[in-house]
Amino acid sequence: MKVLLVGGGGREHALGWKLNQSPLVSEIISAPGNPGLADLGRCVPVDAEDIAALLALAEKESSDLVVVGPEVPLTAGLVDQLGERGIAAFGPSARAAQLEGSKAFTKAFCDRHNIPTAAYRAVQTIDEAEVFLKTLDAPFVLKADGLAAGKGVVIAETLDEAIRAASAMLDGQFGSASQTLVIEEFMHGVEASFFALSDGETVMPLIAAQDHKRAYDGDKGPNTGGMGAFSPVPHMDEAMTQRVMDEIITPTITGMRDEGMVFCGVLFAGLMIDADGPRLIEFNVRFGDPECQVLMMRLHSDLLPLLMGCATGGLGDIPLPVWDDRGCAAVVMAAKGYPGAYGKALPIALPANVQDGSHVQVFHAGTMRNKAGQLVSSGGRVLSITALSSQPKDAADLAYRKIDQIKFPDGFYRTDIGVKL
Ligand code: AMP
Ligand code: GLY
Repeated sequence: MKVLLVGGGGREHALGWKLNQSPLVSEIISAPGNPGLADLGRCVPVDAEDIAALLALAEKESSDLVVVGPEVPLTAGLVDQLGERGIAAFGPSARAAQLEGSKAFTKAFCDRHNIPTAAYRAVQTIDEAEVFLKTLDAPFVLKADGLAAGKGVVIAETLDEAIRAASAMLDGQFGSASQTLVIEEFMHGVEASFFALSDGETVMPLIAAQDHKRAYDGDKGPNTGGMGAFSPVPHMDEAMTQRVMDEIITPTITGMRDEGMVFCGVLFAGLMIDADGPRLIEFNVRFGDPECQVLMMRLHSDLLPLLMGCATGGLGDIPLPVWDDRGCAAVVMAAKGYPGAYGKALPIALPANVQDGSHVQVFHAGTMRNKAGQLVSSGGRVLSITALSSQPKDAADLAYRKIDQIKFPDGFYRTDIGVKL
């Protein structure tokens, strides 16, 4: 089977690495891919957000399955348009992708289906914002309604700060994404990222991972796309997983179907867990990055039938995936300055023996080859060094030993992945 993989981050390299192990996959073409994916197949210089060019590529290559990594092409309707051309694709339709594309949509959906989440109000004027903020206790949570590349959430410590932030957001800080704001009650507890697959009918639980969102050690510094992840997550035991399925995931898949927005693909629930149980922070409609890297390392089963089952139906006939019992951790190496301004074309020396084919994998993200063929950086998050060992903490220690062999003088990484504060 010929797979077209859309995207070029660490998530997509991990998906490609796992798909490459499938006896059912004959070729992997990536758009745009990265040097890691180039070792697994062809990379075509088509942007992951260029819907017309992706459609043309899928048709030209007669792809049997298009696997869409990032959210932007999903909310833009890539899967709908592939469907109109008779091409199978893994990922939700544009309407179903609203679960990630609009926080106001998701909050209203949760209200309609009794899905536990923070109390909220969606507002479009500063007066409405102020009235609602005054009913809440500090800290205050403000979110841009639309996609903001993971940067659209502000947590303000004081009412004044919250009002100033609301005003900046409504004035276009995140462009049209913040024309509507969602203001939420602050939830206390421990977080987890939980993943489930669906073909619209069957709901298949995967596993949980925990992300480290802040840039620096000790959960300091700005929020990023994710500086590391680990799995398993101690507070997501079997009983809690069942509650998440029963109270959040299954009602969402059923509710979306009942409302005529059948959800196919991976549903990623960001959760806050306290003594009362799990509550939804947000949904994403794609794998997390770097959570995907640890999921793929722990997955023993063939990935292709799972993705194909979501795309074409019949997920219920596929056995539940089998997972490695060991712990896994991914440590992200980023360019200095990330998530703010950072340099590009920074040299990286990555010895071939850093990965051993079983316990350690280096997934590429913002890397490229320069004219001389040398590996250099091309983005903020550059590599994720992902390792398996008995416990997530041991896996992180193994990843750090491997990082010592990588020379990326203009890069940085957190030294506390796998240890949650
Ligand atoms: P999001 O992009 O919605 O996942 O938010 C980013 C981060 O902000 C989350 O991982 C949480 O740490 C935090 N956060 C978002 N919403 C809330 C909330 N209502 N209460 C507490 N923390 C939150
Ligand atoms: N690591 C969080 C995300 O992918 O949204």
